Amino acid sequence: MLRLADLCKTYPGGVVALQDINLNIPAGMYGLLGPNGAGKSTLMRTVATLQTPDHGSITFDGIDVLRDKTELRKTLGYLPQEFGSYPRTSAEAMLMHFAALKGIHGEQRKQVVENLLVQTNLWDERKRSVDQYSGGMKQRFGIAQALLGDPKLIVVDEPTAGLDPAERRRFQNLLVEIGEGRVVILSTHIVDDVEEICPQLAIMGQGKILKQGGPAELINSMEGKLWTSLVEPENIPEVRSKYSVLSTRFSAGKIELRVLADEKPADMSPASPELEDVYFATLIEHGLKENME
Ligand SMILES: Nc1ncnc2c1ncn2[C@@H]1O[C@H](COP(=O)(O)OP(=O)(O)O)[C@@H](O)[C@H]1O
Ligand SMILES: [Mg+2]
Repeated sequence: MLRLADLCKTYPGGVVALQDINLNIPAGMYGLLGPNGAGKSTLMRTVATLQTPDHGSITFDGIDVLRDKTELRKTLGYLPQEFGSYPRTSAEAMLMHFAALKGIHGEQRKQVVENLLVQTNLWDERKRSVDQYSGGMKQRFGIAQALLGDPKLIVVDEPTAGLDPAERRRFQNLLVEIGEGRVVILSTHIVDDVEEICPQLAIMGQGKILKQGGPAELINSMEGKLWTSLVEPENIPEVRSKYSVLSTRFSAGKIELRVLADEKPADMSPASPELEDVYFATLIEHGLKENME
């Protein structure tokens, strides 16, 4: 269990990136969903001991993370949002090198690296230089390096941005697999990333946790408040002026509006809520998203 208590961070210049963050994160996949600027990377770097908060505490399996950075780093795997560039070295050679830095030597090192290359589906490409890898392969390589030393806490910051749908799915499957018996925190602005694979998640905005829970629980909380209507484009402004419009979708040549309201609006029918509706409704509620973009 990872416990974050009362975390606050204001950057020099006055941006408040973390405001009183309290979260208990159990083993398994945990999603941190929020728009750009929400404070996700700040939170991830803080958990990864690369940055100190102004206030608050973090504990992981009995380790006081902010005091005992070295102890945490022994059991931490971290995949940052920005990875920088890779040298022209094969994936295998790089992992062998990182393994040695982690204190893994001899026959064990070969075995560990081989297992990781197989697990991340890079075995056939192990002799290729990482700087020649596709985006998806680079991210899978990032997971391979994060798994060295069998860490119990893994922090992955926006790993699926820029991946195509097939690679994203593949990467999500890999995360689910490594979530067994570990705490894995995944930050993203893509609802689909957390919808299927995170049993627990938090929605973050402006440095605050706006909502947290399991996807089903969050979705149920919107039951009876979501309505849908097919409209002609010229009628959108009218609906928008009366109701909180969460999103628009194209459907059979018309436009489907999804509307949030406590009572059923005339000419609309009930819609079954999805996590995306929860996300948009939460952002609108906190003034972080326009009433339909
Ligand atoms: N090193 C920094 N110095 C000053 N402001 C920063 C720094 N890093 C991030 N910020 C600001 O803090 C806020 C949160 O940023 P960040 O944690 O990167 O959010 P996210 O990862 O959700 O996009 C943003 O307004 C960002 O501009
Ligand atoms: Mg970020």
